Amino acid sequence: MSSETLSQTLAEIEELKKKHQAIILAHNYQNDEIQDLADFVGDSLALSQKAAQTDAKVIVFCGVHFMAESAAILAPDKTVLLPAPDAGCPMADMAEPEEVLEWRKRYPNAAVVAYVNSSAAVKSVSDYCCTSANAVKLVRNIPESEIIFLPDQNLGRFVAQQVPEKTIHLWPGYCITHHRITPEEVIKIKNLYPQAEVLVHPECRHEVTALADFVGSTSQIIQYVRQSQSSEFIIGTEMGIIHSLTKENPSKRFYLMSPGLICPNMKQTTVAKVLDSLRHLKPVITVEPQIREKAVAALNRMLKYV
Ligand code: 13P
Ligand code: SF4
Repeated sequence: MSSETLSQTLAEIEELKKKHQAIILAHNYQNDEIQDLADFVGDSLALSQKAAQTDAKVIVFCGVHFMAESAAILAPDKTVLLPAPDAGCPMADMAEPEEVLEWRKRYPNAAVVAYVNSSAAVKSVSDYCCTSANAVKLVRNIPESEIIFLPDQNLGRFVAQQVPEKTIHLWPGYCITHHRITPEEVIKIKNLYPQAEVLVHPECRHEVTALADFVGSTSQIIQYVRQSQSSEFIIGTEMGIIHSLTKENPSKRFYLMSPGLICPNMKQTTVAKVLDSLRHLKPVITVEPQIREKAVAALNRMLKYV
């Protein structure tokens, strides 16, 4: 898109936003130009909070399907648009509600804690939802001492290490983007930049998080850099986060831990798709009322641990 077309498109987006009383929410992994046009950029937890609290009538969700679905569950009176309707999350697809019900039979005393990266149907058969920002806090503070944690085995293992007093049954799911980072890659890049602090997402394997100086959600990583005295950082999460990091900290240097840290689904949202979505007020994301009714309870429990 030429810079002239881009500015015309952005102007039309602004106009349509006013006309429809819309808000644009974007995840930290979105393309740079999407983060720049959004009203709010954040991690999964902050985006859910924003969706639950906004006065806007229309929420344009620049992220992946489960995020827009969570917004639709938390804000049933709003129109939730997902400009890139095919943007799914392969990890969310690694758990089906029928399987969750089988695990419940296998561990009848366990509470089910579903990472927000899961379908509405899975949330509807879970007791609690969590994000990477509050998983440890939630698991530590809920009354149940036995937990089925799904679908991310890596986040679940990280939580189990931080909360050793609880028994946690790990689901075998993983994020294809984060899981592929190896400890060898981390050691190699640490040797290249020995002064740099290593910041990683808990969706990475535990052999990788074990080598990090800080493990946290995308917004927690941004917050960590804001407060750190260091000037160099090795970043172990999706490359989209580098945009906010460099914008906020122009004098600091960031090195992506691995060139494969790209989530193709997150990259599906484009400025043209956002415009199209606002012009036609679609694709709309909805959740069946009987699923929503049960899933909202698990999501509201998640929002208590912020
Ligand atoms: P957050 O750390 O922003 O919650 O996101 C992780 C993620 O993979 C979202 O899909
Ligand atoms: Fe799913 Fe991983 Fe992409 Fe997040 S980064 S949306 S967990 S595939």
